[in-house]
Amino acid sequence: MLRETDAKARGLADLPEVQSDSLLQLIALCNADPRPEKIDVGVGVFRDAQGRTPILPVVKDAERILLETQESKSYLGSAGDKRFAGLIRPILLGEHADDDRIAGVQTPGGCGALRLGFELIATANPHARVLLGLPTWPNHPPIIRAIGLHIVEYPYYERDTGRIAFDAMVASLNEARAGDVVLLHGCCHNPTGADLSDDQWAEVTGIIRERGLLPFVDIAYQGFGRGLDEDARGLRGILAACDEVIVAQSCDKNFSVYRDRVGSLFVKTGSAGATARAMAHVFQRAREMWSMPPDHGAAAVRLVLDTPELRQRWPGELAAMRDRINSVRARIASADPRLAYIARQFGMFSMLPLSREQVLKLRSDHAIYMADSGRFNVVGLGDDQIDRFTAAVVEALDA
Ligand SMILES: Cc1ncc(COP(=O)(O)O)c(C=O)c1O
Repeated sequence: MLRETDAKARGLADLPEVQSDSLLQLIALCNADPRPEKIDVGVGVFRDAQGRTPILPVVKDAERILLETQESKSYLGSAGDKRFAGLIRPILLGEHADDDRIAGVQTPGGCGALRLGFELIATANPHARVLLGLPTWPNHPPIIRAIGLHIVEYPYYERDTGRIAFDAMVASLNEARAGDVVLLHGCCHNPTGADLSDDQWAEVTGIIRERGLLPFVDIAYQGFGRGLDEDARGLRGILAACDEVIVAQSCDKNFSVYRDRVGSLFVKTGSAGATARAMAHVFQRAREMWSMPPDHGAAAVRLVLDTPELRQRWPGELAAMRDRINSVRARIASADPRLAYIARQFGMFSMLPLSREQVLKLRSDHAIYMADSGRFNVVGLGDDQIDRFTAAVVEALDA
């Protein structure tokens, strides 16, 4: 029998307005701008010299193989494509690939891996605090808050100098309590492009270990910075030093399969038995949220990695994306000494030391669309747009 409560009935019509994501607003504004010369550097995906986000030839070939050979679309289970996770393992973990205290599972993109990793943390400790260096990718805080975990912020980057606020970061981490989670960008920091140096990784790793913190590494751009192994060096140092580590990985960028939602979560604990127990919780949480991850993109990535000819070609196609990112960086940096820091950063994103008013003026006067924070995607620029973009930015810096 239904029991009455005195709580006031609330319907869907009572829902409050949602503050729409500022990047989505920016895309809408740019789309609505009729000026043909408009430049969209707010976009979050790789673009080639002609402004396209092409499907990698290796992925196209893998999809052809998949079409011809796939015999069933029956359920795979909460772990998704196990062979996929097995093939990502050595690429991500390097010398730690054979460590039986580390287990991985396919997820719907890097976002799914982040959500699942934080769900696991909350299952173990609903009161865990998550230390977050600012600025960070705007989707980090909502994912963490959605689970009810508490965020503690610290400064990561100085926008005016283009440098990591390393002293402040170290001081903050030194105040952390045992059991606090530290979310770190594995490489190609989004939104700043400012990655920790090897020495800085070593120092941060030492603090994490000494203070008994739980490192959570988000690595969504492996191969976009310096190379597959180089970009995973910080993560691998953490794995060498710490007994418990969580890693959220994405293939959406380095295989250019964004909409197909391909990623994985890796969990390390102090023993193979404890990891197996943790993974049982991971599967349970995955089952509650998406039951099982989408198959197509992970199957295509699996076929790239499992087909010798495609496996051999993929690093070259990845390097072509990386080389474009780094050559656009070099061109922007050479335009003005105040932009030189851009060549020392990695991945698609950097931040310009512009005020919100200057960013809005670039939008109105030059049809240049970037986030209010001054974050821009270097490969949002087609080759024929770079000079006009840098000239407008230098003009804004001079004003
Ligand atoms: C820092 C960071 N982590 C995770 C992700 C999630 O990537 P995915 O599209 O695979 O969910 C992104 C995507 O933009 C990102 O920038």
